[in-house]
Amino acid sequence: MNPAARNAVANAARAAGASVGLAGETIIINGGRPLTGRIEVKGAKNLVTKAMVAAILGDGPSVLRDVPAISDVRVVRGLLEVHGVTVTDGDEPGELILDPRGVVSAHMVDIDAHAGSSRIPILFCGPLLHKLGEAFIPDLGGCRIGDRPIDYHLEVLKNFGAVIEKLPSGIRMTAPEGLVGTKISLPYPSVGATEQVLLTAVLAQGKTELSGAAIEPEIMDLINILQKMGAIISVDTDRLIRIEGVTSLSGYTHRALFDRNEAASWAAAALATDGDIFVGGARQPEMLTFLNVFRKVGGAFEIHDDGIRFYHPGGELKPVVIETDVHPGFMTDWQQPLVVALAKAHGVSIVHETVYEQRFGFTEALVKMGATIQLHSDCLGAHPCRFGQRNFQHSAIISGPSHLTGADVEVPDLRGGFSHLIAALSATGTSRVSNVGIISRGYENFIEKLRALGADFEIDA
Ligand code: EPZ
Repeated sequence: MNPAARNAVANAARAAGASVGLAGETIIINGGRPLTGRIEVKGAKNLVTKAMVAAILGDGPSVLRDVPAISDVRVVRGLLEVHGVTVTDGDEPGELILDPRGVVSAHMVDIDAHAGSSRIPILFCGPLLHKLGEAFIPDLGGCRIGDRPIDYHLEVLKNFGAVIEKLPSGIRMTAPEGLVGTKISLPYPSVGATEQVLLTAVLAQGKTELSGAAIEPEIMDLINILQKMGAIISVDTDRLIRIEGVTSLSGYTHRALFDRNEAASWAAAALATDGDIFVGGARQPEMLTFLNVFRKVGGAFEIHDDGIRFYHPGGELKPVVIETDVHPGFMTDWQQPLVVALAKAHGVSIVHETVYEQRFGFTEALVKMGATIQLHSDCLGAHPCRFGQRNFQHSAIISGPSHLTGADVEVPDLRGGFSHLIAALSATGTSRVSNVGIISRGYENFIEKLRALGADFEIDA
């Protein structure tokens, strides 16, 4: 391991250790109190981590602002450092300076030491193949919300000319002839696979045409960043993205798009606890679909220049039928926190999860607290879905109103974990929520935010 890598491994382990402080931690929540007050959301986890990888493509340093202090960012920072990219804190809070000029290959063991449960390493391939002609990817993690395959990613990279070699501990990739622009059609508008194409096509020789692309706001913000670096990218109608490869890219300066998933999570918390939360930094355009559903359930909101106020206006919550979908549909990451409010709605709600096959594991804890939720393998909705005949429990029927009472629950994954927090906060009585460290993967300073909103809890020493 080269000295830079050894140093980076130590730093990242220390940094991760800081976040691991909560990893196995339990918090004891006395529920039944409305959450009220103001919190701020920073840059989107699902943009910032990719923007950090994009910095590798530049010939000079990049500046990224509004970076949240979450462990997913610490993981990517460690991965960049083991690859010789220097990452330093800028002048303003949440500002990172990323200098790729010392980029080097890293060994699988070093990558593995950081990758942890992140899926981001697969996005290093295109940039590293352009810069170094080779890339190593350990077997990847990610929240257990389904199989999380990377077949689309590997197909994309092969399409560009990458040679993929399966190793016992992961994958080695080379690009002996360089990477050449190509025509790609995704079988599903995968966010990650679209990012894979973007991060590879921008420096490939010639043109790339991507059909069936994801067009999430985080994808569009990554395109903003790449265009700032010198890339030529057009987004046509009907999910068609065209990229003209260029010979070099500069660094970028960018303030990340806000985290709409965190904003939606706190909005759901306001609804479920009869509360009133101002989410600073939240913007209406990227939350349009969520706001419609929030209003239909009986929530109220006010759009301000510096954020959105989400509150329970009184009265009964109403049941809804939701089908998650790719953008601009109802985002899959929004359903878990909202299901808690649906458990309190007067009537029967249905959630048809069409993006991931196993994303209702978190409902077990809600049932333990008194919710009435049945899972079905049928597609309970009009949306065509890949999981219908494959026996995945990907539809939920939520009957309310249920009275939630405190219970001991364990956080299963990031968004499910946040719904456990909301359930404990809205239940009467005391809950012990364990393994809460996972939540710090995607929610910056959530303990301080809970305190600011008046939650009654303590950390179980
Ligand atoms: C991103 O995951 C987000 N994660 C997810 O957020 C988000 O839920 C998801 O996009 C959908 O919006 C990050 O950006 C780090 P996909 P990603 O590729 O890119 C299948 C959170 O909590 N698929 O759009 O992994 C896949 O199994 C996380 O912040 C393949 O089959 O999502 C899934 O069914 C959770 N083969 C569907 O596509 C592949 O090679 C959508 O996945 C890739 C994906």
